[in-house]
Amino acid sequence: MAKTTLLDRRTALKVVGGAGAAGLALRAFPTPAIAQGAPVKVGFMLPYTGTYASLAKNIDNAFRQYVSEKGDKLGGRTVEYVTVDDQADPSKATDNMNKLVDRDKVDVVVGTVHSGVQMAMVKIARETGKLMIIPNAGADAATRAACAPNIFRSSFSNWQPCFPMGKVMAEAGHKTAITMTWKYGAGEEQMAAFKEGFTKAGGQIVGELWVPFPEVEFQSFLTQIAEKKPDGVFAFFAGGGAVKFVKDYAAAGLRKSVPLYGPGFLTDGTLQAQGEAADGLKTTLHYADDLNNPADKAFRAAYQKRYSAEPDVYAVQGYDAAALLVIGMDAAKGDITAKDPLYAAIHRAKIDSPRGPITMSAANNPIQNIYLREVKNGKNVYVKVAAEALADPGTGCKMA
Ligand code: PHB
Repeated sequence: MAKTTLLDRRTALKVVGGAGAAGLALRAFPTPAIAQGAPVKVGFMLPYTGTYASLAKNIDNAFRQYVSEKGDKLGGRTVEYVTVDDQADPSKATDNMNKLVDRDKVDVVVGTVHSGVQMAMVKIARETGKLMIIPNAGADAATRAACAPNIFRSSFSNWQPCFPMGKVMAEAGHKTAITMTWKYGAGEEQMAAFKEGFTKAGGQIVGELWVPFPEVEFQSFLTQIAEKKPDGVFAFFAGGGAVKFVKDYAAAGLRKSVPLYGPGFLTDGTLQAQGEAADGLKTTLHYADDLNNPADKAFRAAYQKRYSAEPDVYAVQGYDAAALLVIGMDAAKGDITAKDPLYAAIHRAKIDSPRGPITMSAANNPIQNIYLREVKNGKNVYVKVAAEALADPGTGCKMA
């Protein structure tokens, strides 16, 4: 027994995978992995501090809410949470992920928010085979070239919410646009997706402005927009950075002369702090504040009751990350090592999400509606479906 607990994961996998090793595998892992009594260890790797702190909190909150609504059980087992603050810092990402996988020996990693941090996590998830559910970061590669059977996303690819806005802006009569974002993977991929949609619809990008992440000194960039006078601006910022950006944009007097658009991250979970500076902003996203479907009504009421706060898209993604895990753990009857039924069930999941129906693409990324929304009275109000059941192209994904 002592020897069993000393087996590292890779050795253990070889043992399990060896010819005729089924009996040995059972003997090698009598406890605690299969024991129904041991808690399932869920490791949250999220940016609990910094510009994305509110995103982390809402993901964490709603994940726990969902598990709690299911009787605080995953496949019949109780749940233990471990948290690591990744600070949205890619330079610390490998160490932080290793802490969860090697030191804390979690059964599943739920994380993260920042695309750069995510790609370091993807590498380790691929090397170790650890189950990972991505509750926000849109890094396209996670469900394209770097896809894997143990990597699932409950959120979006960076392409998904941005591509449809190209057509929306072109249809509003805008012929030229400037893009503005933080200079890192998510910003780059989101701008590329918008550019693809906008140029396809006949628009032209006349400037690209890049702000170092997570800086919020926007003034010199806003001056360039005022000088260039494009028909519109498409911008991605989120969390604390989005609050400051939208206020600065309004304070610079640009709102009327150069309409501002973006993916919904610009105005989700930020409206209270942005106040009237956000009024009238149009964004595209896989959620809105008034979808009013039964799942959303129940989710919002329970979230408000539990946390005395309004949920947002990040909370929805955390809630659905838990839904995916519950579906998998129920199919595996609580045995996290039963990878075949576990992954097959998550892959085939059909969730009646607060955002509307979602299913998983071949690359394990949600297929979902993208909504056009407009800020009115402090809410991201539904305008129309900008793209129905939109799937990321999943380019280059070859499941092992
Ligand atoms: C990302 O880094 O992928 C990211 C971060 C915050 C968002 C959206 C995407 O709101």
